[in-house]
Amino acid sequence: MNVLLINACVRKESRTRRLADEVLKKLSGLSADGEFVLTECDLQKEDIRPLNEETLKLRDRLIAAGDYSHGMFRYARELAEADAVVIAAPFWDMSFPASLKLYVEATMVTGLVFRYNEQGFPESLCRAKEMIYVSTAGGPVFPPHHGYEYMKMISEYFWGTRKNVLFQAENLDVIGNDPEQILQEKIREIREADF
Ligand SMILES: Cc1cc2nc3c(=O)[nH]c(=O)nc-3n(C[C@H](O)[C@H](O)[C@H](O)COP(=O)(O)O)c2cc1C
Repeated sequence: MNVLLINACVRKESRTRRLADEVLKKLSGLSADGEFVLTECDLQKEDIRPLNEETLKLRDRLIAAGDYSHGMFRYARELAEADAVVIAAPFWDMSFPASLKLYVEATMVTGLVFRYNEQGFPESLCRAKEMIYVSTAGGPVFPPHHGYEYMKMISEYFWGTRKNVLFQAENLDVIGNDPEQILQEKIREIREADF
């Protein structure tokens, strides 16, 4: 099983990353073929730039020519080859850090991640059937979780995942709360979950 971790965590002591590690631990134990290969796309290190007029033109030209050898397509190739995708993203400004949006922008590549069928609907070219989204929030998340719901749409429509799961811990920064206890409860939930 080839698992892609899209890591949008920023802080070294990230609690979201801690929960994501629990998900990865569980997935490694579930791997049916006994093989577990983890590829991490650390968005802090990658520092993906937003598309501008020049890079957008270049991208359009390369896609039209069917030439995916350029380095800008690396993220899309990596995504298309994953059997499962885990997204670790703290709840920032009611959704997620901007680096994750830039990742989406970099990977929406026709011919690699998806194609449009004759009716104009997107069809996935990815292998993954499962997306697991992990998030922690300082306060309460008033539903819907906009970060998860957005990534679920992307994942379902373009990556073709059929199973989409959210694990979120809330109220970690609320004064008087014990964040460690909240995290431990979430860890227990992840360990007992069926995914
Ligand atoms: C830039 C920024 C924006 C945030 N926005 C929100 C928010 O909109 N709602 C909320 O409940 N918490 C918000 N928080 C708090 C984080 O969600 C919370 O501390 C989270 O657990 C951080 O995850 P981490 O430990 O993985 O870094 C924000 C924190 C930062 C640094």
